[in-house]
Amino acid sequence: MSTVAVILAAGLGTRMKSRLPKVLHPILGDPSLLWVLRALPGDLKGAIVVVHHGKEQVEAALATWQKAGLLPCPITTVDQGVPLGTGHALQACIPELDRLGATQVVILCGDVPLTTGGTVLQLCAAEALLLAMDLPTPGAYGRVLQHPDGRLAGLVEAKDATPEQLAVQRVNGGAYSLPWSALRQALLGLTNDNAQREYYLTDAVVAVARAIPVAVEVCDPEELAGMNSRHDQAALQAAAQLRIERHWMAEGVTFLHPGSTLVGPRVQLSQDVLLEPGVRLEGAVAVGEGTLIGQGTVMVDSTVGSGVEVRPYCVIEKSLVGEGCKVGPFARLREGTTLGEDVRIGNFVETKKARFHRGAKASHLAYIGDADVGEGTNIGAGVITCNYDGVNKHRTVIGRNVFVGSDTQLVAPLVIGDGALIGAGSTITKDVPADALALSRTPQVSREGGASKLRVRQKKGTGVS
Ligand code: UD1
Ligand code: MG
Repeated sequence: MSTVAVILAAGLGTRMKSRLPKVLHPILGDPSLLWVLRALPGDLKGAIVVVHHGKEQVEAALATWQKAGLLPCPITTVDQGVPLGTGHALQACIPELDRLGATQVVILCGDVPLTTGGTVLQLCAAEALLLAMDLPTPGAYGRVLQHPDGRLAGLVEAKDATPEQLAVQRVNGGAYSLPWSALRQALLGLTNDNAQREYYLTDAVVAVARAIPVAVEVCDPEELAGMNSRHDQAALQAAAQLRIERHWMAEGVTFLHPGSTLVGPRVQLSQDVLLEPGVRLEGAVAVGEGTLIGQGTVMVDSTVGSGVEVRPYCVIEKSLVGEGCKVGPFARLREGTTLGEDVRIGNFVETKKARFHRGAKASHLAYIGDADVGEGTNIGAGVITCNYDGVNKHRTVIGRNVFVGSDTQLVAPLVIGDGALIGAGSTITKDVPADALALSRTPQVSREGGASKLRVRQKKGTGVS
């Protein structure tokens, strides 16, 4: 069997009222379409994303995910042209499905993010299956009509339904698995003779059901809930949040205030991790055993080792934090920061493309960018690496056990040897050899009694000399 998935994503998403295509709106940091694609099994022949509105943005996102290795199988796109209905979307895919040699087609919607991998596997394993849900208020969903033995008998859109049909609470979830030959034939016979003047995929599914038995599987509604409005997006995010929290709690993670904590679907947490209120972890984040992530901290695409203390209100992006480090409060680790073991980055310290080796410290108010900081080196308060000359970026390489006094500017490119000592308030523009004492200050002047004399002059209004 050669199974190909088709993901419908050409709709406009009018109710989102957004410039961003609906399927790119995020749930816990990952766009809806990425959730759908990541739930696909790796052994599919391929997946086709049907696009039209916001095509360029969707294709750019797909290329980024492909590059990041986030897509489980080969993905192609098909431009539906002006969307004329879900059946029209599948008709547009006929050449591509033929080209891929599909024998079985699994159809999902790009705006239904919470279908689990397990449910998608169930679809892939079925010969002919439709996923349904039972809703107390079925609203605008298509109604599922079944034969007494449960097989699919009909699908009626709410706008075309009779009052009796509208009373049916079993609704079409819009996810199907069907043999391609039967579906292909049914698609060729579609008309738009209905209330919405659309080519309904549901009509093709019903036509297939006349030839072969199509099973109906009732799922947890959360798995089939679509994102049509900002309200739906918030509800889906809350559902995803609950699901993810339950999972990590069962794995030994403490959430001090679960409702306020946002943990994305690609986050990996370890035993005895403690997340304080208001923590947000997005993208590919990994946190090691026994690590504490303080209140209000935001972490994106970063790895933090075990036994780390990230104190409140830190922002950590595209960085690596080694075992036993202490970071923050109020620290900002920007892209390309690597902290070795037991590094200390204190309050109001910003780092970028900086490597701190084991035990190095920058405890207060510093900017360390494009730099290498050796083992055991201490960066004083207010130290700045002047890495940018207005045109180019330059590196600062600081050896082991160096002491950089407070309020020092290190004007890159610069190399500071092991064990060097830089006096506070220096502007260092030349390399400093190992073990050297480097200072650059104007000599201090202290005039005895000068303060009183000055005050007298000030009172007379004679000004300052
Ligand atoms: C469809 C089903 C309905 C089901 C519901 C489940 C049909 C006719 N109806 O409703 O029975 O209860 O899904 O959510 O299929 N799309 C395209 N091209 C189009 C039209 C839609 O790609 O021409 C995409 C949309 O972007 C969306 C998905 O298909 O991702 C579903 O479209 P939507 O309009 O939300 O579903 P309905 O047609 O209302
Ligand atoms: Mg529609």
